[in-house]
Amino acid sequence: MEFSTSQYDLISGDQGVRKLVDRFYDLMDEREDVKVLRDLHAKSLRISRDKLYMFLSGWLGGPQLYVEKYGHPRLRARHLPFKITNEERDQWMSCMNQALEEQIEDQLLLSTLKQSLFKVADFMRNAEDAS
Ligand code: HEM
Repeated sequence: MEFSTSQYDLISGDQGVRKLVDRFYDLMDEREDVKVLRDLHAKSLRISRDKLYMFLSGWLGGPQLYVEKYGHPRLRARHLPFKITNEERDQWMSCMNQALEEQIEDQLLLSTLKQSLFKVADFMRNAEDAS
């Protein structure tokens, strides 16, 4: 018997992941204070939306959509073409934290997700801040 509930289920599954990712990229597109982050991305965010949605589906314990389509994520390697310092990481987290706060009421789930996504984002850093 299965008693554990995945984070995927707790954020309402496929629909919840889609909603989170859409809000995240809408914020990235709209917020004046994250222009550095936005400018790293392609003009259209459609492919980014699909890929992050597929990745987070598996990462949260749901269907491994990204792995099935693209293979191992190799996330750090895939981010190497983009300069990621504390500034880019913090802008990414700021949009993600806002999207999470707007959607998730359960405070324990909210802080757990913020912390574990911060670890992934911090791991993407590949350059020092400008002095
Ligand atoms: C730390 C700050 C981060 C920055 C600045 C960043 C930036 C980017 C950029 C510029 C792209 C290329 C997409 C495009 O051109 O539209 C990308 C792709 C992607 N990012 Fe990030 N990212 C960050 C963190 C993360 C984190 C924390 C995750 C996962 C939780 C993530 C997941 C992905 C995925 C799955 C892709 C698609 C990879 C592929 O298949 O090409 N990113 N990211």
